[in-house]
Amino acid sequence: MKTTINQVSGHVGQEVTIGAWLGNKRSSGKIAFLQLRDGSGFIQGVVVKSDVGEDIFQKAKSLTQESSVFVTGIVKEDERSPFGYELEVKDLKVIHESVDYPITPKEHGTEFLMDHRHLWLRSNRQHAVMKIRNEIIRATYEFFNTNGFVKVDPPILTGSAPEGTSELFHTKYFDEDAYLSQSGQLYMEAAAMALGKVFSFGPTFRAEKSKTRRHLIEFWMIEPEMAFYEFEDNLVVQEEYVSFIVQSVLKNCRLELTRLGRDTSVLETIKAPFPRVHYDDAIKFLHEKGFTDIKWGDDLGAPHETAIAESYDKPVFITHYPTAIKPFYMQPDPEREDVVLCADLIAPEGYGEIIGGSERIHDLDLLKQRLDQHQLDPEAYKWYTELRQYGSVPHSGFGLGLERTVAWLSGVEHVRESIPFPRLLNRLYP
Ligand code: 4AD
Ligand code: MG
Repeated sequence: MKTTINQVSGHVGQEVTIGAWLGNKRSSGKIAFLQLRDGSGFIQGVVVKSDVGEDIFQKAKSLTQESSVFVTGIVKEDERSPFGYELEVKDLKVIHESVDYPITPKEHGTEFLMDHRHLWLRSNRQHAVMKIRNEIIRATYEFFNTNGFVKVDPPILTGSAPEGTSELFHTKYFDEDAYLSQSGQLYMEAAAMALGKVFSFGPTFRAEKSKTRRHLIEFWMIEPEMAFYEFEDNLVVQEEYVSFIVQSVLKNCRLELTRLGRDTSVLETIKAPFPRVHYDDAIKFLHEKGFTDIKWGDDLGAPHETAIAESYDKPVFITHYPTAIKPFYMQPDPEREDVVLCADLIAPEGYGEIIGGSERIHDLDLLKQRLDQHQLDPEAYKWYTELRQYGSVPHSGFGLGLERTVAWLSGVEHVRESIPFPRLLNRLYP
């Protein structure tokens, strides 16, 4: 019977056939051990010469790395295997023989691996990271669906620039100018006025000339938006959502986390509530820590975020940034207009900002004034201002960067490993 590796527990003692690739092998004169993977999991195939005969044994011994096979055998429980089972091989059919697979068990440089990303994805480590990415996406849908949110899909081709005009991918839309979406937020605000609580999940684009471990040109964002939610309500959704995805990954990706060598003790403690640090206090704290390069009014850089995050064993909200350094749509603090009702959520262990969010301006005149200050074309934002003309309500939302979250939970150093085909500065291949 044909099955997959993740299903073998239901076939102990039975003969099964699995389509697989050969990861690695070891052999002696009498016995060969095949490390097999089929995408669903990993299993060792044991080929005993006296059992299968000369022909099949020779086939097994000469199998090359990444050759594809149909392997037939009896499923055995095996306590020593990290996956719990092994296959006592009875028959082996080679589907396709792989010659000179470029990624060998020896060490390769990053650029070489990135040039072979289409093959690198097959490796144990990349497999584990992609499974964790998938679990975060699955848990995201579960969280928002069970909490009364409706999934809404904003457009990718747009005429507006929510996060500032300097990082836009420009394209022609027939005779008009268009941009690839940097954020679906403005459309999600319209959707929240129709459906109450909404979330999106889709690709976003930033023509950022940044070459850091946290920056991609194309990345995926989860953007919830909630009508009638004020600043603090928004933070509660964020801390509950992030706690939920961390606990889901811990529960459903044990094998992957182990394969990655991830220290899970630091993830176990990630439970709401998360600490909140006012921007004023963040600046004071940084001065006390000896950061003389920053003054009130500056944006925080990666080293500043890391220094603050190191004081906590959970993600930390930095709230109330200066109005002058934030986008036009953020609601100023009614107590003092020089800061806005916003928060960035900073992940532990140096992974940096994983969420940016805020309460949005719901007063029409104030919004028009802010568009003007940011020199944004009122015509392009006419539809957006109209949301404030017909039953405007306080509302809030945020965007979680998927790849930074995947990198953090997987414990991989760089976001390039947290998306199947990363788009980076100077990299569009493969
Ligand atoms: O802070 P950002 O720019 O916020 C927005 O786009 C808001 N409109 C979201 C909203 O309120 N609906 O981006 C949100 C998150 C960041 O915290 C970060 O995790 C991720 O998106 N992000 C990036 N991830 C990878 N590469 C980049 N170049 C990123 N830029 C932002
Ligand atoms: Mg941000």
